[in-house]
Amino acid sequence: MTDRNVIAVVGATGAQGGGLVRAILADPEGGFACRAITRDPNKDQARALAALGADVVQADLDDLDSLTKAFAGAHGAYCVTNFWEHFSGEKEKAQARNMAEAARAAGLRHVIWSTLEDTRKLMAASDTRMPMLQEKYRVPHFDAKAEADAYFAGLPVTYLVASFYWDNLYTFGLAPKKGDDGVYRWAFPMGDKRLAGIAAGDIGKAAYGIFKAGPHYIGKTVGIVGENLTLDQMSEKLSKGLGILVKYHAVEADAYRGFGFAGADELGNMFQVDRDFETEVLGARSIDVTRSLDPSLQTFDQWLAENKSRIPLA
Ligand SMILES: NC(=O)c1ccc[n+]([C@@H]2O[C@H](COP(=O)([O-])OP(=O)(O)OC[C@H]3O[C@@H](n4cnc5c(N)ncnc54)[C@H](OP(=O)(O)O)[C@@H]3O)[C@@H](O)[C@H]2O)c1
Repeated sequence: MTDRNVIAVVGATGAQGGGLVRAILADPEGGFACRAITRDPNKDQARALAALGADVVQADLDDLDSLTKAFAGAHGAYCVTNFWEHFSGEKEKAQARNMAEAARAAGLRHVIWSTLEDTRKLMAASDTRMPMLQEKYRVPHFDAKAEADAYFAGLPVTYLVASFYWDNLYTFGLAPKKGDDGVYRWAFPMGDKRLAGIAAGDIGKAAYGIFKAGPHYIGKTVGIVGENLTLDQMSEKLSKGLGILVKYHAVEADAYRGFGFAGADELGNMFQVDRDFETEVLGARSIDVTRSLDPSLQTFDQWLAENKSRIPLA
């Protein structure tokens, strides 16, 4: 047993939760301990967390009983779903509901729900600029999370709204691709608008800042971001940082949705929202608040210097 406040971390083997686990373990005097939740405590990433000092426990978001046990006796929980494992808004909502129910049963004193904004509120239902997906969503992995906010109502919850991870360049296949002429190109339906971006590792650090702030952020929505950059600015920074020539092509959203990879329609809608509603998307996130929660918050250049060897340059 520990006299420190235990945070049960869903997604501990992943980007968001992993960052939080590492932030808690890096601050042994901070008053928090962490319980790292995974479906498979024997996997390498889970063993690595145990070796760092995390208490690793098994639970599955699809199994309410396992979650209730995993949250029992904890002070708080970090709740995140992984849309990209199943691509289903409905499943994401069911998993969020299980986490909220488990948090209620455990009487947690602080829950962070990693949500995103409801993009349907940005345009009328009759707006034809982008298709509805899965019958009722504009951007399912945003809108379903926003719908799931309601499950957490009544709990001592902070709604955390993250930004596009720059790490998507190496984890999501979004890096510029080399052409026959040696020039690296990438295409997004972002026009000349700025994309709110963040180093994935900073999400967990900011979440740790929220837990440390105690009741201050309970009942609040906190939008976090490292830097807002146009794709031309990111291309310039990549060119300089990687010693290559990167060119950005602004494509139409319909063209992007037709690119044919799994999730192209979803990401096409998402980038179109980022482009058409730049003011609203950027306005929902604050660099100053993020830096106050995470003083080591990285800029794109800092993230690139640390991660450049991971970016595939084939
Ligand atoms: N990529 C972006 O730019 C971005 C930006 C904002 C928000 N997001 C959101 O971030 C979410 C993904 O978070 P991430 O990037 O941290 O994920 P990630 O690195 O892909 O890792 C997924 C994590 O979820 C856990 N998990 C998945 N299904 C589970 C289940 N049924 N039961 C228990 N644990 C489960 C996995 O644990 P085990 O496999 O160990 O069980 C793993 O730790 C997505 O929903 C996405 O919409 C992404």
